[in-house]
Amino acid sequence: MNVTTDLECRFRPRHHFAAERNWLNDPNGLLYANGRYHLFFQHNPFGDVWGNMSWGHATSTDLVNWVEQAVAIPCDEQEAIYSGSAVLDVHNTSGFGTPDSPPLVAIYTSAYTARSPLGGRQAQSLAYSTDDGMTWTKYAGNPVLDRASAEFRDPKVFWYDGAAGSYWVMVAVEAQDREVVIYKSSDLKSWDYLSSFGPANATAGVWECPDLFELAVDGNAENSKWVLIVNLSPGGIAGGSGGQYFVGEFDGVTFRSESTVTEGMQADDSRMAEYGWLDWGRDYYAAVSFNNAPGGRRLMIGWMNNWQYGAETPTTGWRSAMSLVREVRLATHSGKTLLLQNPVMPPGERLFSLERQAISAGTTWLSPDATGEVYGLDVEFEPGDGGEVGLLLRVGGEERTVLTYDATAGVLRLDRRRSGNTAFQETFASIESVPVPLEDGRLRLHIQVDRCSVEVFAQDGLATITELVFPGEDSTALGIFAEREGGTLVRFDVVH
Ligand code: FRU
Repeated sequence: MNVTTDLECRFRPRHHFAAERNWLNDPNGLLYANGRYHLFFQHNPFGDVWGNMSWGHATSTDLVNWVEQAVAIPCDEQEAIYSGSAVLDVHNTSGFGTPDSPPLVAIYTSAYTARSPLGGRQAQSLAYSTDDGMTWTKYAGNPVLDRASAEFRDPKVFWYDGAAGSYWVMVAVEAQDREVVIYKSSDLKSWDYLSSFGPANATAGVWECPDLFELAVDGNAENSKWVLIVNLSPGGIAGGSGGQYFVGEFDGVTFRSESTVTEGMQADDSRMAEYGWLDWGRDYYAAVSFNNAPGGRRLMIGWMNNWQYGAETPTTGWRSAMSLVREVRLATHSGKTLLLQNPVMPPGERLFSLERQAISAGTTWLSPDATGEVYGLDVEFEPGDGGEVGLLLRVGGEERTVLTYDATAGVLRLDRRRSGNTAFQETFASIESVPVPLEDGRLRLHIQVDRCSVEVFAQDGLATITELVFPGEDSTALGIFAEREGGTLVRFDVVH
């Protein structure tokens, strides 16, 4: 085995999508159509760092196993194909298909190169497919929406059907202005301006990849609210790239936020923890949701990386993976409407369980059968008087990724400072934390470990931490620790 092959395989995730070869960033065009989920993605078909941006393509019937397809929309001399969305144009409003055979339409950002008459601009363009997403044709009338801006990108288009009427709505960003701009259309080709939102809450980096969708609150369809997703980079809660969300109302024209804490461009770092965050780790970015998901589910995927070090992560031949698919819901917590996120799980077998038991002071190591590089954990702690309790993940020699709950502070921390190879970039070694209150004295955790990542979902998805780690192959031990006696392990299941 040569060294290159070894590096290529070692960190390649089992349950997270990564391109077979080369670079990947944002999820694009997330769409369910004719029995398949489509995941398009920002892709460099010719190298393992960002460049030549094109839309790669993968499909799945179960949201877990993805089959990579041919590049869907390649860049050319005049334009790079930046992020955007895709719709199933059921009523053939665009005329690209027929009423009997409606087209898929991708709405992407044309990032025009110096060779284009529009060089330097970013504007919104269309491509369509009449063979179920396998081949795509660029619309001859592109771009369809041009504001003569160099920072206008990442259109998310969906079908709005409400009190104001039925039409296509686009949310996109003026990235430097930290503004979400909203447009409407009846045919995807001609767009009318409706309104803008922002700057608000986190504004220390450019705003990118917005999304807007309606969700029932506490499962009650009579009481729904709208969620506006705004990714930003840098300026995320954990440093670098991150995603924030606003909850509010959308009347078909204007989004009104009920979760605005600060307005304007003056970033107020002291209020960061009060904003709505999609994730409190450093590796969940450009997250957007599927159009048309069956059963009214709202499913999201993020890019599992961070622009601070994305180009330097230590893999060869391929670079970067997507997060697991997350199903999101709205729930009321202490008078606020908050987003809950839970992973769509690979079907697993329960391989190892522990009975309810007191947690000893110090570290209890698990049987080696329970460990590996890929597994899920369902854990429930009652910290009681045990002080800090937690888990040691991916342990070998000095290497470990440490998940700690501090009941006194009500804070969950993930520490990757000794997780393995952290030296490839100076800011990578870090410790993240999120406020998490106990519920009835308990902390419920779902953790997914997959070769180069750890995703933590706390209290049924109320808080999440997603982090990359690059441990040695032999760093597979798993331990439970407590500062003192007095805590209880209520549940501990390992799923492979
Ligand atoms: C977000 C982003 C988008 C842009 C794309 C380019 O990660 O910067 O704003 O469309 O990546 O690859």
